[in-house]
Amino acid sequence: MTGSDTTGSDTTGSDPTGSDPTGPAPVLVTGPTGTVGGPLVELLAARGVPVVAGVRDPARFAESVESRVLDFERPETFPAALRGIGRVFLMRPPAISDTKRYLRPFIEAAERHGVEHVVFLSLMGVNRVMPHWQVEQDLRASGLGSTFLRPSFFAQNLQTAYRSDIRDHSAIRVPSGRGRTSFIDTRDVAAVAAIVLAAPGRHAGQAYTLTGPAALDYHQVASMLSAELGRPVGYEPRSLLGYRRELLAQGLPSAYVTVQLLINLIARVGLAAGVTDTVERLLGRPATPLATYLHDLRHCWEKLDPAGRPAGPGVG
Ligand SMILES: NC(=O)c1ccc[n+]([C@@H]2O[C@H](COP(=O)([O-])OP(=O)(O)OC[C@H]3O[C@@H](n4cnc5c(N)ncnc54)[C@H](OP(=O)(O)O)[C@@H]3O)[C@@H](O)[C@H]2O)c1
Repeated sequence: MTGSDTTGSDTTGSDPTGSDPTGPAPVLVTGPTGTVGGPLVELLAARGVPVVAGVRDPARFAESVESRVLDFERPETFPAALRGIGRVFLMRPPAISDTKRYLRPFIEAAERHGVEHVVFLSLMGVNRVMPHWQVEQDLRASGLGSTFLRPSFFAQNLQTAYRSDIRDHSAIRVPSGRGRTSFIDTRDVAAVAAIVLAAPGRHAGQAYTLTGPAALDYHQVASMLSAELGRPVGYEPRSLLGYRRELLAQGLPSAYVTVQLLINLIARVGLAAGVTDTVERLLGRPATPLATYLHDLRHCWEKLDPAGRPAGPGVG
């Protein structure tokens, strides 16, 4: 694994885009209900790539692709999930921090089942205190081909973790100070994953740091949200300790709170501001600007009327 962002020629035999007359082995997408796996399943299916969604609860998965039960905490689900699979998109669920215990056995099972390549969703600036680091080491030590995607902070956090503050209080309340973040749209991460899965030999051994096109602080994000939503949205910076108290008072698990603090600390000290052109080089088009993401997903932050319906712009 070089950590560089270069590409070479494809050396892999089977082709998940469909040109193999014997039929390409399907791609297993883990975390298909997640912010990256979701758009990835859609992209692969739209391109006619045989795809299998690895889900904990198939009843909760309504997509029109094949789904199989896969739970990293239940190794007995691995053989059926991996049967006949050629390539895997692997993500680490946020709740799993002991990756040696839960993801290493999955990697070993993937190797035993003849998987040729794993695309792993890591993160920008990965280092040994982060659970992703161990997964990268385990993949390097395995006989599997692998590619690491190391994205920056997801724009989609604005529609998940920060959604209710923005929608209900017109505020972003995080302890990132004036630190800037190179928000990436997870649709771009999924698009890169699809490119790599289509020609894994070309990307084997690579680690791609993926960012949005610009680094912005939360005052700028709040201004962009205000313009998009037609009502003032403010940035109300929190102290690290105050934020910790607030999240714990909301009953959030302490491991989750610690991760949130770490993420904001990284932004606060300027380590989330790096911008690369890797998305553009791999996709042949610029990374999605945050303004485009906010426009596309604006319904997420529209105020609700008492009946729970979007109340429309201008409602303060
Ligand atoms: N958020 C960021 O800014 C950011 C930035 C860079 C990297 N990352 C990394 O990206 C990863 C998260 O990706 P994401 O945002 O696409 O996911 P996500 O939206 O957090 O969704 C988590 C997914 O994991 C599945 N899952 C949970 N527990 C599981 C288990 N025991 N076995 C199998 N599947 C399980 C969930 O399925 P269910 O439907 O069954 O719950 C869901 O599909 C994390 O490793 C995170 O560190 C995040």
